[in-house]
Amino acid sequence: MNYHILTLFPDMIMSTMSHSIIGRALDAGKIKINCINIRDFADNKHNQIDDYPYGGGPGMVIQPQPVYDAYESIILNNNINPRVIYMTPQGKTFSQDIAKDLSKEKDLIIICGHYEGIDQRVIDEIVTDEISIGDYILTGGELAAMVLIDSVSRLIPGVLGKEESFIEESFSNNLLEHPQYTRPYIFRNRKVPDVLLSGHHSKIEKWRREQALKITFQKRPDLLDKAELTKEEEGYLNSLR
Ligand code: ADE
Repeated sequence: MNYHILTLFPDMIMSTMSHSIIGRALDAGKIKINCINIRDFADNKHNQIDDYPYGGGPGMVIQPQPVYDAYESIILNNNINPRVIYMTPQGKTFSQDIAKDLSKEKDLIIICGHYEGIDQRVIDEIVTDEISIGDYILTGGELAAMVLIDSVSRLIPGVLGKEESFIEESFSNNLLEHPQYTRPYIFRNRKVPDVLLSGHHSKIEKWRREQALKITFQKRPDLLDKAELTKEEEGYLNSLR
């Protein structure tokens, strides 16, 4: 996957994404992040890319020309015509389903806005998808873009290691995760559940699955509508109800 990010703060993205699993994926060439500084496409000697809003009001608006020229440089240099995502609180709320859908693309352009926003005409001209990461307002689109990149990238084959993808598979059924324990056996008077020390694999699996069902039922019952359950699991869920 090649991410092409239009931003005023490329360092913010590159310095954050160079760690842990995503950093490893970048080093291994499984994903590429190409940050394009919108300011490099300013058409004036002061490198100004924003201006006062027509009609008045507070703040500044990013002008359409530098955003369009930055976009055009990406599609011409790479000979691509990818989906163009604008990170905005007005967009569709990001979800695991959207992450799965986006992970199938070869290239994505992501636009990060700032100030009061971006001139509507360039959004109308080039954007294919508007995405929000939740009902709150950030100071800019960069953090939102990084949330998207992180969750899309971990779905790309080879980004997660063998053990990590196994964890992914076992939790990708619309259930919340069962609790995990490690040493010591007793912590501040709290013991690890005995079944986990039994060495009985099928009992452990059953307990974990029941815990996942119970926690989902208690914390996010809305998710259960989409979960695929066996007859036995339905029975367990009914006993909780
Ligand atoms: N930009 C500012 N707030 C945002 C949000 N909640 N989601 C995506 N982009 C944003």
